[in-house]
Amino acid sequence: MHSTTLFGVLAAAVAANGACVPRDLHATAAEVQCPIVFDGRVSADAEPTDFDSSSSSIFNPDYVKGNDLKWSEILQFPEAGSAHFDDETHKPFEVTLSDESIFQTQQGFRRAGLQFKGDTNNGSPGSEGIKTIHFSVKIDPQRALNLSHEYLVVWHEAADYSANQFNFETGTVIGQEGLPEDTWKVLDRNYQQVWSTPIIQDEWQNFAITLDFDKNTLQVYYSEADEPLESVTDAVSNNNAGEGQYQFGLLKKPTGTDDVVNSGYQESGIDEGIIYGSVFIEDSADGCISL
Ligand SMILES: *[C@@H]1O[C@H](CO)[C@@H](O)[C@H](O)[C@H]1NC(C)=O
Repeated sequence: MHSTTLFGVLAAAVAANGACVPRDLHATAAEVQCPIVFDGRVSADAEPTDFDSSSSSIFNPDYVKGNDLKWSEILQFPEAGSAHFDDETHKPFEVTLSDESIFQTQQGFRRAGLQFKGDTNNGSPGSEGIKTIHFSVKIDPQRALNLSHEYLVVWHEAADYSANQFNFETGTVIGQEGLPEDTWKVLDRNYQQVWSTPIIQDEWQNFAITLDFDKNTLQVYYSEADEPLESVTDAVSNNNAGEGQYQFGLLKKPTGTDDVVNSGYQESGIDEGIIYGSVFIEDSADGCISL
């Protein structure tokens, strides 16, 4: 990884001058090795309003968000450096929550979740064979989450909405308050924790989850900053049946209720967010995986 070392030297030199690190000094992006099924990497020249229309958005412009909000009001484009598989043609994006993030009549949740355009609820290529979802996340200290709550950050929801095949979460998992709140957690379909890692401030954390829809397994990969991904679990048994759609963004559950969809407590005046980069689904047939 001599490029990383070079980058470190350059970054230190530039930082000493008090300037930002220009994008072209970023270590070379990791290369995607397998066919991309859905690409959620945002173009460096994308405008916020691009995400309001299906003709210009790479995501579903209509779902899953506050009824009165447009994606151009929800998404932010902070300076966060390039995520693992993002190159100079991509930029990170932030998904935010406010008091208006109420979807349909779901008064209990605050949510803003992106779906890949073309990831249909039934018959999607993302829900068959062996697929890997890649994503990198970074904390925005200006829009801190309240980790007393449970947040879904990336998940795959079954077509009949009865379950999520996996859940990538942070915060306090309702009913499992013994788990530390300040971690990223991968939970299986039965809401059992498969793996977790502490949240790091000021650094990208890179994840990949391989779903084998034939063998009914999932496997987790992880790295920090520019490091290559490494497998952190075996392919563990998981019920991946039921098709459905991927979603990434924030779904904040309320506290103090058994009916999380419709009731419970939510602080008012919230301004919360998570920064994403390097989001895509690749075809992992024959064991292909980008690291
Ligand atoms: C965090 O959430 C808890 C539970 O809803 C609430 O009591 C607390 O006031 C919140 N804290 C902040 C800083 O919003």
